[in-house]
Amino acid sequence: MRDKNEAEICARALETSEPWITLRRGYKHSIKPLMDPSREVYVATQGKEIVGFVLLDVRGPFRGYIHLLCVMPEWRNYGIGALLVKQVEQRVFREYPNVFLCVSSFNRAAQRFTNEWVSNASARFQITS
Ligand SMILES: CC(C)(COP(=O)(O)OP(=O)(O)OC[C@H]1O[C@@H](n2cnc3c(N)ncnc32)[C@H](O)[C@@H]1OP(=O)(O)O)[C@@H](O)C(=O)NCCC(=O)NCCS
Repeated sequence: MRDKNEAEICARALETSEPWITLRRGYKHSIKPLMDPSREVYVATQGKEIVGFVLLDVRGPFRGYIHLLCVMPEWRNYGIGALLVKQVEQRVFREYPNVFLCVSSFNRAAQRFTNEWVSNASARFQITS
């Protein structure tokens, strides 16, 4: 995150997106972690416009935990979410074995996105005994 203005843009995007609408955890709950220098934020941009972002936590027991992932509504389904997750994977797998992401049971769109992610990921691995 480059500055407070960027953090505010990201936090405001959450207010109009599931799951944060249903969970009632929009701006107020996300501005603090977005400004926390111990978390890592990756921002996707088109020119000067922020089109999506991911907030990553590499501390504590779940090192590699995706705390927030959001693509701005008008930019969804262009592959930006997949690009952000790929960036996280590259970053996390340099040091840790797992990437964690929680998806709410009512967040069907995100479930379809993560199903796609998991099926692509498993294609890269082989299981042997
Ligand atoms: C979930 C989210 C991050 C996905 O980002 P995105 O940029 O729209 O996703 P992508 O365009 O990278 O899609 C990646 C794959 O998932 C699939 N996908 C994404 N959204 C989908 C949907 N609503 N329905 C079906 N498939 C979907 C795409 O078809 C794509 O597969 P493909 O590459 O084979 O075409 C975005 O919808 C979002 O910000 N949602 C609101 C916040 C949220 O739910 N965050 C996640 C909390 S866990």
